[in-house]
Amino acid sequence: MAQLPVYFFSSTSNLIRRFASNLHATDGRPVRDLSERTVRSSEAPGPWILLTPSYKAGNDAHATLPAAVRTFLRSPANRRRLVGIIGSGNRNFGDHYQAAARELARVSGRPVVFEFELAGTPEDVAECARILTAFDARFGNAPETHDR
Ligand SMILES: Cc1cc2nc3c(=O)[nH]c(=O)nc-3n(C[C@H](O)[C@H](O)[C@H](O)COP(=O)(O)O)c2cc1C
Repeated sequence: MAQLPVYFFSSTSNLIRRFASNLHATDGRPVRDLSERTVRSSEAPGPWILLTPSYKAGNDAHATLPAAVRTFLRSPANRRRLVGIIGSGNRNFGDHYQAAARELARVSGRPVVFEFELAGTPEDVAECARILTAFDARFGNAPETHDR
């Protein structure tokens, strides 16, 4: 069973990068870093999962996805192949908690499959790995996995 790759963005504080590498260490799931230009300008070869933080914009009206995530989502193929979203946030942001992941879910029609705070706990990593394994069973053998 093919494992869905997780494409993640992490800022310089590296909280999400730590979660992503723990996820990879759990069961070998492929993780791809969207802060690398070659990754964010590539096309996902098949179904994929996004792992993103929320970064509240300067104004109060909206929280935006990181620019690297928006770049990757500019590709229609990447938008089509996105199957689920994992969000990292901080509850101190109140109503804006997980705003980017939830807003993207709303506009894309794809589910938020897991949410955690900051770098997550070991329990968060284990729970997320379990959920993704269930998604592998649904999407890991989708035809687009082989369309490159
Ligand atoms: C400037 C700034 C704005 C943030 N805005 C939000 C927000 O609106 N909602 C939220 O849930 N978390 C928000 N966070 C928390 C981050 O999403 C969270 O710390 C995340 O784990 C950061 O991951 P990273 O360090 O890998 O980039 C914000 C953090 C910073 C520094």
